[in-house]
Amino acid sequence: MKNRWYKDAVVYQIYPRSFCDSNGDGIGDIKGITSKIEYLKDLGINAVWLSPVYKSPNKDNGYDISDYRDIMDEFGTLDDFKEMLEKFHKNGIKVIMDLVVNHTSDQHKWFQESKKSKDNPYRDYYIWRKGRGKDGKKPPNNWTSRFMGPAWEYDEASGEFYMHLFAKGQPDLNWNNPKVRQEVADICNYWFEMGVDGFRCDVLTYISKPDDLPDGKFNLGLIGDEHFTIGPNYHKYIKELNEKSWSKYDSFIVAEAIGTGLKDAVALTDENNKELDSLFHFDLANVDAILQFIPKKVDLVKFKKIINDRQNLPATTWNSNYYENHDQPRSLPRLADGGDLMEAGKMLAVSLLMIKGTPFIYQGEELGMTNCAFKKEEMIDVMATQIMGMFHKISPLLDNWAYKVMLKRARDHARTPMQWNGSENGGFTTGKPWMVVNPNYTEINAEKEQSDENSLLNFYKKVIHFKLGNEIAINGNYIEYLKKNKNLFVFERRLENKSLFVICNFKNKDIKFALPEEINYKNCELKISNNKDAGKLESCVLKPYETRIYELEY
Ligand code: NOJ
Repeated sequence: MKNRWYKDAVVYQIYPRSFCDSNGDGIGDIKGITSKIEYLKDLGINAVWLSPVYKSPNKDNGYDISDYRDIMDEFGTLDDFKEMLEKFHKNGIKVIMDLVVNHTSDQHKWFQESKKSKDNPYRDYYIWRKGRGKDGKKPPNNWTSRFMGPAWEYDEASGEFYMHLFAKGQPDLNWNNPKVRQEVADICNYWFEMGVDGFRCDVLTYISKPDDLPDGKFNLGLIGDEHFTIGPNYHKYIKELNEKSWSKYDSFIVAEAIGTGLKDAVALTDENNKELDSLFHFDLANVDAILQFIPKKVDLVKFKKIINDRQNLPATTWNSNYYENHDQPRSLPRLADGGDLMEAGKMLAVSLLMIKGTPFIYQGEELGMTNCAFKKEEMIDVMATQIMGMFHKISPLLDNWAYKVMLKRARDHARTPMQWNGSENGGFTTGKPWMVVNPNYTEINAEKEQSDENSLLNFYKKVIHFKLGNEIAINGNYIEYLKKNKNLFVFERRLENKSLFVICNFKNKDIKFALPEEINYKNCELKISNNKDAGKLESCVLKPYETRIYELEY
């Protein structure tokens, strides 16, 4: 059977606000993206995912949409978008949009109507309920927003609350209303007809809520998840959307699947179920934290087990793999062990691109961009400000602690502008950037790395080039070796009598590698390594962060 296109894709995620500013207003935009298509083509990727570019008041940087069919003023126009799409396609790069339909912005006309009165035809597009308590001013249940505090906002005019699982400017849509589901299918079809190739679906696992909205249990500081993560009608609604829209196009649908485990992954992505093509799980996102926020050292054995479990799901499912995105701090400080982070970056690139599934690279990851030493007031994202604000309310004595936690975990780290060159603001803008540029742009930037043969950027190009079109890298079975080894990640991708044998030293020190006895190859060729002295596949001592890919024949 022919592979679906996304199985041979390397996707690059663009966070438009921070990618490239074409008009000097300090905010990245569509024309800026278009101007960098050559860079992306040279990198070798063949698909991009754009974080939201739709009209939005930006309470959550575009994840609060006020018009699903138009482009945010700051980013440009629909014509700019069409021009960009055409240029991407001309260069063999597919375009995946972000689909944010668990909630809209409170500025969306549906919500504006919905707020007008209880009998407005749009009232039932959202989740409105009477409050509890004598005066009805207590929220309808105890669920919390993912950004902390109650998941409900009181509306004086109608005397009812509306639900918002994120910020209060992001009211949740009522998917139990068939009109809402039809609207979502129509939005997808609108963009497909324009030529887009797929969607990354924002918090899609939260869309179905039970009508009676029962109180929830306390779980990792949040309340209510057990009722709305893959809620009662989830599968029905997704199958319906698949039938009305997604399956009509040669599309790639990957959903953010927060709070789901291995069994859910099969139910959601098994191709026989006709729901999603793939999902993003969160198991690796928290390997360096306790309760999401308290930093801890990564345990490589656990890290490998998470990957191994997902790699061994039935062949009728498909993984999407990532270390970074716009919601996570940068991967180098999280997953590496100090020392030469550029070498660590090469090793991480190999581990990410060589496991089975579609890899997602986040803008700047290919350069080794790092977290930023923010001052408190420089962290401006809604998550950081709400969390620091909440701890301040509990006690100002917690201010410093909350600031330190956010310095490790804030989403702002991933959102500092792309570092294009060593000129002012890293070449991102000629104006005043909307958020601070990481001062290390003078050292870490695309222009510098382009001209350095040994740079991380040039290494990424090699690995991407090697992976795309490589049948073993696409379909080879995943076999893990040295599972209990705390320093090395070693695996093979096997297809008939050929395989790719991959070694990654996760440590910043020399580590002994013992060739597993069962590896008895006939031929062996070293394809890629960050150690120019690497020899044939045998027991050896690996350098700090050394990585190797061999092609074997049995
Ligand atoms: C997940 C997105 O990735 C995140 O950036 C956003 O804040 C929430 N969903 C709400 O849309």
